[in-house]
Amino acid sequence: MNYLITGGAGFIGSHLAEYFLNRGDAVSIVDDLSTGTWRNVAQLDGNPNFHAYISDAADAVLMEREIRRADFVFHLASSVGVKLIVSQPVESIRRIVRPTETIVDLCAKYRKPVLLTSTSETYGKTETTPFREDMDVTLGPSCKNRWAYAIAKLLDEFYLLAMREQTALPVYIVRLFNVVGPRQTGSYGMVLPRFVSAALKGAPLKVYGSGKQSRCFSSVYDIVEGLARISACKEASGEVVNLGSDQEISILDLAKRVIELCDSKSAVEFVSYEEAYGPNFDDMQRRLPALDKARRLIGWNPKRSLDEIIVETRDWLRSNDRF
Ligand SMILES: NC(=O)c1ccc[n+]([C@@H]2O[C@H](COP(=O)([O-])OP(=O)(O)OC[C@H]3O[C@@H](n4cnc5c(N)ncnc54)[C@H](O)[C@@H]3O)[C@@H](O)[C@H]2O)c1
Repeated sequence: MNYLITGGAGFIGSHLAEYFLNRGDAVSIVDDLSTGTWRNVAQLDGNPNFHAYISDAADAVLMEREIRRADFVFHLASSVGVKLIVSQPVESIRRIVRPTETIVDLCAKYRKPVLLTSTSETYGKTETTPFREDMDVTLGPSCKNRWAYAIAKLLDEFYLLAMREQTALPVYIVRLFNVVGPRQTGSYGMVLPRFVSAALKGAPLKVYGSGKQSRCFSSVYDIVEGLARISACKEASGEVVNLGSDQEISILDLAKRVIELCDSKSAVEFVSYEEAYGPNFDDMQRRLPALDKARRLIGWNPKRSLDEIIVETRDWLRSNDRF
């Protein structure tokens, strides 16, 4: 198979590229290195089955050439991370919406299946858990710009599903829930690498809000396996599927666990949301995925425990001097 991965120099995209190359497939990536880095894929340079293009995934000329060659398109390129979305809202919305339109139109033209990575943020402030893919959602108002991420991703989802309805294009939508592991950095607001870096430096772990808000963390290796299985599952075409862990932990407990597993003397410091993200910030208390659909379609379950994930992240940050 010939896979095209946008955002392939990013955290998840680079692991996905490696997964297919290890299987003997060919992979091309398109990445503008806005949040990704060449270091994530430098080890693949020289592999005859690997091609990298440093470019905007909204570049219609490049994308037309690459989509024609591809058998399957994974569209991961996107702005990611709450900190980035609230600090650069214009660029973030553009980076989510523009490439999707270009890519989906070209996939429809050349009849190439496409998978979009969407997000658990699309469930917004919905309080009913677990989150099912077809449930009603409650999102915040447009004056609170963190919601731009969820709404731009939902627009992407609508666009893929509309294209499928009108042209029978095979489309796949996967909503990811807090994916973590090696190569993720804390620079764009991701909580686990931020905590592990602080613990390794002996600096305070900054917990935003009360720390009672909970999240579910899944390993990038489990997620890559799930993405590959969905792309090979015809019944998943036209479906929105959650992928993530259903083991919840509060952010305060996560901080304590990180301190323990890093054998660190760091303290926990509470920081208000306003101080962390500026005024008008909104957050959600829980984000728990329903995984029945993923189980039914692809027989998928997350395998790695939170402790294993923290240890993997710690070892990677330490050995790569990225903390
Ligand atoms: N990591 C998570 O927990 C998580 C959760 C939900 C959804 N997702 C989704 O998974 C995907 C991958 O996220 P990630 O965590 O690997 O983040 P990442 O920032 O490491 O990866 C995104 C990649 O896209 C690239 N990119 C951004 N805009 C681009 C553009 N216009 N053209 C070309 N490249 C562009 C970036 O340089 C980066 O390499 C994203 O679509 C994200 O929305 C991730």
